[in-house]
Amino acid sequence: MTPKHGLLVALEGIDGCGKSTQAHRLVAALVEHGERAVTFREPGDSEFGRELRRVFVEGRDITPEEEMHLFLEDRRIDVRDNIEPAIAAGRHVVMDRYYLSSVVYQGALGLDPLMIRAKNEAIAPRPDLTLILDLPVDIALRRIAESRGQANSFEGREYLEKVRELYLGFVDETAIETVDASEEPDAVHDALLGRILQLVDAAR
Ligand code: TYD
Repeated sequence: MTPKHGLLVALEGIDGCGKSTQAHRLVAALVEHGERAVTFREPGDSEFGRELRRVFVEGRDITPEEEMHLFLEDRRIDVRDNIEPAIAAGRHVVMDRYYLSSVVYQGALGLDPLMIRAKNEAIAPRPDLTLILDLPVDIALRRIAESRGQANSFEGREYLEKVRELYLGFVDETAIETVDASEEPDAVHDALLGRILQLVDAAR
């Protein structure tokens, strides 16, 4: 018997919002609930993802267009090798960033968000649900400073303000929602898990 398709859920938010921790906790909790689930992180491990990580560390020496294309090519591989096979095998996929990150982060560099979205939707399946972990930039920067000591070139205050504003412009759409990420991690986890389990039940 072919398994039922898994759900595709994307966690989004500005740097310091806590989504990587939450993605791992969600997968563990879904498995405890008897679901099969997996998380993938973008940028990934392709040659394009590795080039992007070099850019994060050494500072931006590429144009916004080049940056968008590197994310797009990295994502194309992630979709083909990871996301689509997992969904087809009946596993729920929790993305630790997905194409809305390109829309808002490269959009905040001046590229047209709608153009970025169109290019991405041509190569990547739409999520069943996108959850934006929303919090004020001040709190996010404080968390980054506490955990790592220093922010990278994606993490300037003004840039993140613009990214947050762009994210919040999408919440009127169906299947794109915010969760208050300024709460304690346990409360954020409960909110995310509750919402995803609703979706899992509805898809049965
Ligand atoms: P991430 O791995 O979430 O950062 P960290 O490991 O520090 O938690 O993402 C790295 C950076 O990449 C982040 O600042 C956002 C940026 N990014 C884009 O600009 N466009 C994209 O499409 C993606 C997926 C990430």
